[in-house]
Amino acid sequence: MKKNLTMTLLGALAFMAGCTSQPEGVPVTLNVAEKGASVSPSMYGVFFEEINHAGDGGLYAELVQNRSFEEKEMPEGYHVEHGRLKPAPVKNHLSGQVNHGASFHWNNEPVRAWSLQPADEAIATMRLTKEKPMFETAPNNLEVTINKADKPVQLINEGYWGMNIEKGQIYTLRVIVRKAPDYTGTITAKLLAKDGKVIGQTNIDVKQTDAWVDELKVIEPTSSDNEARLALEFDTTGKVWFDYVSLFPPTFNSRYNGMRQDVAQCLADLKPAFFRWPGGCVVEGISLSNHFDWKKTLGDPAARPGEYSTWGYRCSYGMGYHEVLQYCEDIGAKMMFVCNVGLGCQFRMGDASPESEIPTYLDDCMDAIEYAIGGLDTEWGALRAKNGHAAPFPLQYVEIGNENWGAEYDRRFDIFYKAIKEKYPQLTLIYDDMSGLREENRAIEKTDMIDPHWYVAPDFFYRNTTLFDTKQRGKWEVYVGEYACNQGVGGGNMNAALSEAAFISGMERNGDLVTMTSYAPLFENVNNREWATNLIWIDTDQVMGRTSYHVQKMYAENRPTYNIGASATTITPDSVEYRSGAIGLGTWDTEAEYKDIRVTENGKTTTLPDLAKATEVLTKLYDGTYGNNYTLELKARKISGAEGFLIFFGMSEDGKQGYRFNIGGWGNRTTALQQLYAQGDQVVSREIPQRIEEGRWYDIRIELTQRVVKLYVDGKLIIDNELKPIPQKFLASGYDEETGEVIIKFVNSADKAQVIDFTLDGVTNVTSEGRAITLKADDLGDENSMDNPTKIVPVEKAYNKFGKTFSYEFPKYSFTILRVKVEK
Ligand code: AHR
Repeated sequence: MKKNLTMTLLGALAFMAGCTSQPEGVPVTLNVAEKGASVSPSMYGVFFEEINHAGDGGLYAELVQNRSFEEKEMPEGYHVEHGRLKPAPVKNHLSGQVNHGASFHWNNEPVRAWSLQPADEAIATMRLTKEKPMFETAPNNLEVTINKADKPVQLINEGYWGMNIEKGQIYTLRVIVRKAPDYTGTITAKLLAKDGKVIGQTNIDVKQTDAWVDELKVIEPTSSDNEARLALEFDTTGKVWFDYVSLFPPTFNSRYNGMRQDVAQCLADLKPAFFRWPGGCVVEGISLSNHFDWKKTLGDPAARPGEYSTWGYRCSYGMGYHEVLQYCEDIGAKMMFVCNVGLGCQFRMGDASPESEIPTYLDDCMDAIEYAIGGLDTEWGALRAKNGHAAPFPLQYVEIGNENWGAEYDRRFDIFYKAIKEKYPQLTLIYDDMSGLREENRAIEKTDMIDPHWYVAPDFFYRNTTLFDTKQRGKWEVYVGEYACNQGVGGGNMNAALSEAAFISGMERNGDLVTMTSYAPLFENVNNREWATNLIWIDTDQVMGRTSYHVQKMYAENRPTYNIGASATTITPDSVEYRSGAIGLGTWDTEAEYKDIRVTENGKTTTLPDLAKATEVLTKLYDGTYGNNYTLELKARKISGAEGFLIFFGMSEDGKQGYRFNIGGWGNRTTALQQLYAQGDQVVSREIPQRIEEGRWYDIRIELTQRVVKLYVDGKLIIDNELKPIPQKFLASGYDEETGEVIIKFVNSADKAQVIDFTLDGVTNVTSEGRAITLKADDLGDENSMDNPTKIVPVEKAYNKFGKTFSYEFPKYSFTILRVKVEK
């Protein structure tokens, strides 16, 4: 009885405070009668941006790269310097200074993705030309001159790191071609397997000369190959021009100019409530001269100019606004359009359009809205109908700017908000919040939602599941539009996924404030990882959800209607200690020497061998394990190089886990303590400015007690770091009105299984049979890969021991969802 009273009080407290942490071993009480915040049906959506070839070579089904030969076009005023793209200098509106900018990746091939076979100029040549363009909007075409044709000459497109050709599918080829009168032969399109074998072909009948001919053909391959190429073969001498060469497999929902089936399905499986487009930084452009221009993404794909994407390659604009709206409709997602307010990317060039051009940007946004939902009597609504879709598309959200901030943005936001709201009161309008919810007073009049972003290390998410508990309510809702654990986790791993699962539990619990979320970025083509960690990986014939994908899917598929009372939402270890382990020495891009290395533990001093030359990160891992109460002393001297010293302690035998003092790290500017995980590392102490000089001996002393480590350099205390417990177990609980189930989500990021004793209050009956869905790994560093794409996937099983009280063992490194049927 006493226990129940305590639990009820704890439950009430949990509700008031939002989150309650309790020590291990205490039972958890869930109270279904205590109705908490609703979890919005729009909670889980997706963020799409043309980054990492997410569209071209990703979701968009086109197989031919540089199909329109526009890839050498540069944004206005840009030029190539030392093989890299340099923007035109602009005035940065925050600093008021002229910004000359960094340089960006530029493809220096003469004609990207196209080559001639044989590669011999005496036999054939090619060059880009803008003479007699088929479309003024996409003026480049490729002139091919065949000088000798005793053997066939081929113009070959390599696709996006190869093309996936499957026997049994029908491929649609479109070629816009013009031949000179001197070319009297035929042109044959051939699909070549990686060994050069022809696996499908068709003739392109060009009857006229000196005129563009737009040919549509189908190819039915005779066998499959995932690294195929497309060749256009010539059998006589003469000149031929190509304006456009496109090859499509069957698309998702059989849409014209549509999406790649497997990729589109993988995304549809997330059941996203909304689809954000076009970004991301591409909305703003490096500077305004290459900001994404949705109007140029409409109409005949062959006439679309494309644009140099902020992320280092030209995107074709093939996957345009109409196609994206159609895809949203196909998968039942609402569209979120992100408009540009006349500001270039503030992380890059930071230019602002003149005042006089603000109305132009506003009109552009209004036109986009009108295109999606305007009546047929409007200019853009009529164009939508002309493009094949008379009914309105499901546009619901407009984000006004992407990652903008400052007074200039706030002022423009107000202008856009008022104008859009007046005409389209039914739309939800979103403000960029670049403060991570830190500032409560924005200099704007009103917004419906704000959009903060987090790209962080695992510990940030583990420590911040309570972040929303105390944030202001009632002024706006929160859309966490970009978030991911992408630091110290390589391309992503289970630790990243579990930390995200923990963070989402906090967002779900605060469903009255956080009503929308989207992980970012969404896709990477594995051949072009421009951004370190992405949700879904794509290759020519494969698409794979990382562990984070499964976390997203599990949350979306198990969204409760509302939260219920819980006596605990995190379980924190009572204490933490530095791990015991080995000692090691090394450097980063530096040569150093170490001597007089002594470890004093339990009053006994051991001397370790000197290390005359350290050049590797972990050059030497000494034998022997030490506890976590000792003093390490040594002398260190930098010989040459970029940084200072790396001193490791508490290291695992494989040298992958433990800690290191990075002394004079980060370009010889900073000293800090780093924790090392199986994949990646993370700074866990304060960062202290420090520079290590060459040729000088430094006295280094590390004093370790269970929870505190101190670093002294030349007798001076530099770092004094207490290890703080990081919550490792997280619980979210809610009730699903549709199915009458309690949904319990539990994240266990610890290295041991956790048994929890549950009590379900506020119910009259609990069905013993229910379901448990578990995502688990053997190691926090584990991840799916293209070779082993299903290494870590959710496994669902029946569980028949639920009751008003029941126990459940949550495996180590796992995210588990329990679905328990109850009567109230
Ligand atoms: O998601 C990748 C990038 O991160 C987005 O383009 C941008 O909005 C953010 O900086």
